[in-house]
Amino acid sequence: MNVFYITGTSSGLGMALAEELLKNEDNHVVGISRNCELSHPNYVHKQVDLTDEVSTGKVRFGDHFKADKVFLINNAGTLGEIGYHGELDVSELADAYKLNLVAPAILINNFLNAYKDKEAEKIILNISSGASVAPYPGWGMYCATKAGLNMLTEVVKEEAEINDIKAFSIQAIAPGIVESPMQEKIRSTPKEKFDMVERFIEMKETGLLQTPEETAKMLVGHINSSNYNDPFVDLRELIASK
Ligand SMILES: NC(=O)c1ccc[n+]([C@@H]2O[C@H](COP(=O)([O-])OP(=O)(O)OC[C@H]3O[C@@H](n4cnc5c(N)ncnc54)[C@H](OP(=O)(O)O)[C@@H]3O)[C@@H](O)[C@H]2O)c1
Repeated sequence: MNVFYITGTSSGLGMALAEELLKNEDNHVVGISRNCELSHPNYVHKQVDLTDEVSTGKVRFGDHFKADKVFLINNAGTLGEIGYHGELDVSELADAYKLNLVAPAILINNFLNAYKDKEAEKIILNISSGASVAPYPGWGMYCATKAGLNMLTEVVKEEAEINDIKAFSIQAIAPGIVESPMQEKIRSTPKEKFDMVERFIEMKETGLLQTPEETAKMLVGHINSSNYNDPFVDLRELIASK
């Protein structure tokens, strides 16, 4: 039996991933987001606003005595406000950092606290982005937090080696460009706030976007391959290289 704690299961990639995993009756999913959109005998939802660090810290990781593998998939994310520094809303700025970086750090801390001495295989996957390794003017909140998530992944990987945590893996994964509410938001941004907007409109028009469902299938294939050696992988490149 495998247990997956996944943030952001009410939309886009997180929802498609939960649905794909639930096709296998050995998999149990605990979804974490403000809204609940899924109903399945193996699905439990925790309604949490992940910009609230107190609520995030209270997310309980259960004992799951029969689990062979326990996963934490930090998927919930936001672009935050698209625009240039000097013109940004402070509260939106802080919330984007909390959702994209503070919440994953809290959940990783509490996941390891709960499971570090357990025999079950322990896997943390942090959904990152190509924007974690390239600057996109107008996406400061997004690029900085995703770069931070990559570094957090590397630090936790090294800490686990120092602490000799058995059967543990952690990896940051850039999933590709996925058609979701996030992409709709990008395409509807005025050019004054995001100079590259036309490129994203063109990608949609030329059919270059992945659907959440095909991305979820790719991700589950990756999970089944247990190829967690590299701290950061680009899912499309990884699959193309096979
Ligand atoms: N779409 C892309 O092209 C793309 C590309 C690269 C990487 N990614 C990454 O893939 C992940 C999923 O993206 P997506 O496109 O599927 O996004 P999405 O459709 O916008 O979904 C975002 C999810 O995050 C949850 N969320 C947002 N604010 C939250 C909050 N305050 N508390 C708890 N949950 C919250 C939402 O749930 P509620 O609103 O119900 O809370 C929703 O389930 C993100 O980490 C994103 O950075 C996406």
